[in-house]
Amino acid sequence: MNAMPENRIEKITNLLVTGGCGFMGSNFIRYLLNESDYTGRIVNLDKLTYAGNYENLIDIESKFPEKYTFIKGDICDEKLLHKIFKDFNINSVCHFAAESHVDRSIADPDEFINTNIFGTYQLLKASKDYLRDLTLFHHVSTDEVYGSLGSEGYFTEDTPYKPNSPYSASKASSDHIVRAFYKTFNVPVTISNSSNNYGPYQFPEKLIPLTILNAMEVKEIPIYGKGENVRDWLYVDDNSKAIWLIIKKGSIGESYNIGGNAEYRNIKISHLICDLLYELKVPKANNKNRKNLIKFVKDRPGHDDRYAIDYSKLQDSLGWEPEESFNSGILKTIHWYLNNKEWIEAVKSGEYRRWIDQQYQFSSA
Ligand code: NAD
Ligand code: DAU
Repeated sequence: MNAMPENRIEKITNLLVTGGCGFMGSNFIRYLLNESDYTGRIVNLDKLTYAGNYENLIDIESKFPEKYTFIKGDICDEKLLHKIFKDFNINSVCHFAAESHVDRSIADPDEFINTNIFGTYQLLKASKDYLRDLTLFHHVSTDEVYGSLGSEGYFTEDTPYKPNSPYSASKASSDHIVRAFYKTFNVPVTISNSSNNYGPYQFPEKLIPLTILNAMEVKEIPIYGKGENVRDWLYVDDNSKAIWLIIKKGSIGESYNIGGNAEYRNIKISHLICDLLYELKVPKANNKNRKNLIKFVKDRPGHDDRYAIDYSKLQDSLGWEPEESFNSGILKTIHWYLNNKEWIEAVKSGEYRRWIDQQYQFSSA
């Protein structure tokens, strides 16, 4: 693999972001246009599945009409991809679009195989067809490709892939296809493998927003098994900053782990959230701590015990480290949900609903 290249920023002028209406994609676009040194244009291609919300970027659309274009469409649509590459002179790609929720992949893996594997392949094929113009294809992946850790150790970029869920297997598969297009066809790629992101605009099927919303509404807070599984938590803005740095300066063909330095058991996360809502005196709970809402339910099949990230490669080569502590990040996140009731109402209506309200597939323990 190559040595670290120079800053690519000047060559990145027309960036295709896939899945930009989802949680991480919308935070990334907001960061890029509001805060970063990027001056080019963004084309956001999103199918608007249950997890995609057009409204997430409505402020960005009106603030940056020249720089931001939204296209509703599917990354599996080969013809559409060609049209977008051609019409917008796409010279770089940041690929977020995916089915992202592990529980859903257990209930029905079809769309995970389709979007995460076939969709990534279609995007790579289109990128290969426009290779002359292409500066970079960045693939957004996950630490779950490495499988599960015991009580010690960390995932490094050299940890062998050992995915355990249909979701993580589909992401692992897409990582391999990305790497193959680099090795075989010289498509200039970078890959990031992040730990569990949290922050504003996260669909409330994931642990943190689900716990916040259920606690706010004084509803049961489901914790799988004994709540002892460990995740590393990364504030989404830190993730956006890391990805942008990799896009600008990461070495072609390389993978980078992104972690938050914040390992917690799930039960601790739910206690912390309940304690903070209590301290903030959020009404509706009769001045009681909402910890009494926590309910231990049947475990997720194949539930990974522990994720922990060694991000020293990114730190040593590009100087990145997370800026947000878990305490500050979770407080910001809780405030965001408390202050964005309209967004929550939109999420709860129509197709865009909490998974738990549709089908609670792990019946009570
Ligand atoms: P999300 O579920 O919130 O958003 C996914 C977005 O992709 C949605 O806007 C959806 O409409 C869109 N999409 C889905 N299928 C599509 C298709 N066929 N064509 C076009 N658009 C499509 O996901 P997220 O949590 O923001 O995750 C984004 C990416 O980051 C995913 O690739 C995920 O695997 C990866 N990742 C997520 C986390 C995390 O903690 N959330 C951590 C590491 C990596
Ligand atoms: O590690 C990165 C991954 O993090 C991403 O690749 C995935 O897209 C993202 O969904 C996330 O996967 P997890 O399975 O770790 O996230 P989730 O929020 O679903 O669950 C976090 C932990 O909390 C996990 O151990 C399962 C547990 N859990 C989850 C839910 C939804 C509960 O105990 N109760 C719940 O209701």
